[in-house]
Amino acid sequence: MDFQLPNLTRRDFLAKSSLGAGMILGAPSILKASAPGAPADEIRVGFIGCGKQHEVLFNAMVNIPGIRYVAACDIMKDRLGRTFGAIKSRFGYSIKRYLDAADMLEKEELDAVFVATPDFWHAPHTVMALEAGCDVYCEKMMSNTIEGARSMVAAMDKTGKLCQIGHQRRSNPRYRYTLNELILKEKICGQLINMNGQWNRALSSSQDIVSKPSILPDADTLRRAGFNTGADKELSLEELRHRFLNWRFYKDLSGGPISDLGAHQIDIFNWFMGSQPTSLQASGGRSYFKDREHFDNVMCIFDYDTPQGSARAFYQVLTTTSAGGGYFESFMGTEGTIEISEREAYSNIYKESGADNAKWDKLVQRGLLKKEAAGVAAGGSDAIASYESAPPDQYALPGGLSKAPHQPHIENFLSTIRGEAKLTCDARHALESEAPIYWVNEAAETRETIHFTEEHLHT
Ligand SMILES: NC(=O)c1ccc[n+]([C@@H]2O[C@H](COP(=O)([O-])OP(=O)(O)OC[C@H]3O[C@@H](n4cnc5c(N)ncnc54)[C@H](O)[C@@H]3O)[C@@H](O)[C@H]2O)c1
Repeated sequence: MDFQLPNLTRRDFLAKSSLGAGMILGAPSILKASAPGAPADEIRVGFIGCGKQHEVLFNAMVNIPGIRYVAACDIMKDRLGRTFGAIKSRFGYSIKRYLDAADMLEKEELDAVFVATPDFWHAPHTVMALEAGCDVYCEKMMSNTIEGARSMVAAMDKTGKLCQIGHQRRSNPRYRYTLNELILKEKICGQLINMNGQWNRALSSSQDIVSKPSILPDADTLRRAGFNTGADKELSLEELRHRFLNWRFYKDLSGGPISDLGAHQIDIFNWFMGSQPTSLQASGGRSYFKDREHFDNVMCIFDYDTPQGSARAFYQVLTTTSAGGGYFESFMGTEGTIEISEREAYSNIYKESGADNAKWDKLVQRGLLKKEAAGVAAGGSDAIASYESAPPDQYALPGGLSKAPHQPHIENFLSTIRGEAKLTCDARHALESEAPIYWVNEAAETRETIHFTEEHLHT
C-alpha cells in the first residue's frame, strides 16, 4: 500500500517541531502560509509604531532566529525609513511600508504584530490586529483607559489569538528566580509585610526641538491619528506637533508618569503578591512642569490582604530628580529584604540579624545566593548607635542576564506562538495587575481613599 505523507500545514509543522523538542505547553497559533522558499516555521512579523521603543524591541529581536520581517507601519515616513533601512542592512531584504495600520493588516499575511504606538492607540491597534488573525505583542501600559485595556482582553478571548503585554520583567530570569525560588520556595523574606518601589528620573523639558521639523507629520495626518483628541478646539499644526512629540503629557493620550513608569513596578508588586490590592491612597502634584496635564510627581500606598496578614506597598514616581537610587522594587519581610531592579546594579538582598543563619548559609553553599563582603550594608566603619538594630548582612543574586532586557519576553511570545511555552504576561494577567494603576491619578486628584471593588478591578 502506498504511504502518503500528510500535507503538513505550518501549524502542524510547528506542533511536530515542538514534539521534537519534547514539550508542548500550549496549542501553537495558526501561522499564515509562508512565502515561497521561506522556512515553514518562520514567524511573519509586522510592526505598528516605529518610534523609540520599537527600536529597543527590534534590537532585542535581531538575534532571535525564525523571524521574517514583513511590514511596518508608522504615520511618520522618516521612522518607517529607519526601520526599513535597519532590516535591509541587517538581513538583506526589503519590508513593505505603511502609513495606516488597517491597510497593513488587510494587505499583508502576518502571524505576529508588535504594537509600540502611544498608549491611546494600543487598544485600537491591538484589537484590530487580533481581529485580523494575528498574535500581538503590545507594549505596556495596555491602554490609557481601563476600558481600553478591557477591550483588549475581550478581543483576545473572542479571537483566541495570543496577546502578550510588554511587562518584560515577567520573563526576566532574575525576576522569575527571585519570585519562584527565593520568595515562594525558600521563603527567605519570612512574612512579607512591606513593599517599596520607585522610579526617580528627571525628565528634560518637552521634546519639541526636532532638528528637521519637515520630517514630522502634517496637520491632517496628526488629526486623523487622533492627536486632536480631548482638545476643545481645532489645534494648530504647532499644537498638534507638540502633542505628537509629547503625548505622555496629555490626559487623553496617556496615563502620565504613574502609568508610564509606575506600571513597571506596580506590576511587580501585584505579580509577586499574587493578588490585587484592597485599597489605594495617593497624592500628586504639578509641582514644577506647569504646562503638563499629568502630575509630575506622584506617591501612593496600596494595601493588601495576604494569608499571613495585611501588607502594604509604597510607590513613588518623581520626574524632577534622578537621585535616590533610580528604579527598583523592594520586598521587605521579617527575615529578609529583596531589592530588585531591571538594572542588576540596583539589586540587593539583606538578611535580618534574627534570621536563621544556617538556612542562609546553606543557600549560599547551594549557589542560590552570593554573600557580599562584610560591612557593605553596615556602612563601613561607622559605629552603630545603641538605638539602632544590627545592620542586615548583604547578599546578591547569582548570575545576570546576558541578553537585552526585552529579549526573554519576546522569546516567550514567539515560543508560545510555536506551542513551546505559555505566555508569561497575557492580556488578562496584565490587566489583573495593571487595573489598580488606572485609579491612582483619580485617587491623587480627589485625595480620597479608594476601597477597591470588583467594579474597579475586573478584567
Ligand atoms: N516596556 C518598556 O520598557 C517600555 C519603554 C519605553 C516605552 N514603552 C512603551 O512603548 C510605547 C511607545 O513609546 P515610545 O517611547 O516609542 O514613543 P514614540 O513617540 O517614540 O513612538 C511612537 C511611534 O508611534 C507612531 N504613531 C503614532 N500614532 C500612530 C498611528 N496611529 N499609527 C501608526 N503609528 C503611529 C509615532 O509616529 C511614533 O513613531 C508606549 O506605549 C510606551 O509606554 C515601553
